[in-house]
Amino acid sequence: MPTVAVFNQKGGVAKTTTAVNLAALWARRGHKTLLVDMDAQGNATAAFGITPRPLKGVYDLLVEAATVSEVIRPTALENLKILPSTPNLSGLDVALSGVMEPQLVLRRALETPAAEAEYIVIDCPPTLGLPSVNALVAASELVIPTFCYRHAQDGLHATWANVRRMSRRINPVLRINGVLLISPESNEVSRRTGEIIRAEFGERIYDQAIPGDNLVPLAEESDMPVVLLHPNAPASKAYEKVVDEIDRRIYNASRTSIRSLDGGDEENEKMSLSSSSWLSMIEGPHKG
Ligand SMILES: Nc1ncnc2c1ncn2[C@@H]1O[C@H](COP(=O)(O)OP(=O)(O)OP(=O)(O)O)[C@@H](O)[C@H]1O
Ligand SMILES: [Mg+2]
Repeated sequence: MPTVAVFNQKGGVAKTTTAVNLAALWARRGHKTLLVDMDAQGNATAAFGITPRPLKGVYDLLVEAATVSEVIRPTALENLKILPSTPNLSGLDVALSGVMEPQLVLRRALETPAAEAEYIVIDCPPTLGLPSVNALVAASELVIPTFCYRHAQDGLHATWANVRRMSRRINPVLRINGVLLISPESNEVSRRTGEIIRAEFGERIYDQAIPGDNLVPLAEESDMPVVLLHPNAPASKAYEKVVDEIDRRIYNASRTSIRSLDGGDEENEKMSLSSSSWLSMIEGPHKG
């Protein structure tokens, strides 16, 4: 059962768009799928028309103020359920300040729904705070979407370095499944930046990029992922191919036991999850 976190610490680079469309596609292909909205902004929750925002969400689950069955919501798709976000998720750090191993609460909370779901997709906020750390601890696969422009490229470098450093410490089985290029504008700068990122990151980049497509924001306005509202849109067809690539990488890795596309021997770098200071895990010295 893969748990796929969609994360990039850069804001506005199609994390939510990617998370909701991947979740919708897996569900439409007949897999029982759970989408977890770990962003206090609640964009993934809104993407499925769950408005007004629910009173209880994943925050209440994490602070043990509600059970999964009290917060889980159905969506328009039979196979897709969502753990919605509420604005108080931005106060998770404070709420869990006295809790041992606050970086583990999501992983533990997902144990019950994980038994039923074939895929779990987690949408992360654009920061490496406690909600994202929890997502990266709970995940087995990481998808990093990035736009093809300069500042996004810088964000990709920072994200890559932080995730590698952190996962060695708190989740050695987390695998960077791939980096997804999104070219919202088909201009020369975007094309050149995409080429530079491909040259640098090589096979870590999915072959299929997501083209700029006005139907993506239009679908957002209709509270529906573009792959459901406009299945033949260029972005929808591209997301279909990306799902195939992600599945192929999950399948190949499970056969070869390759843990990381970096080829690092991360088995040797396992660390105990017993530290209660998740922040030190992020900020600690980079080993290797
Ligand atoms: N392929 C695309 N073509 C055109 N616009 C796109 C495409 N993908 C995403 N967008 C637009 O880019 C904007 C940012 O997307 P999104 O909200 O998914 O980013 P995000 O990384 O989740 O942002 P945040 O960091 O705030 O959570 C949205 O307005 C979305 O409609
Ligand atoms: Mg988002």
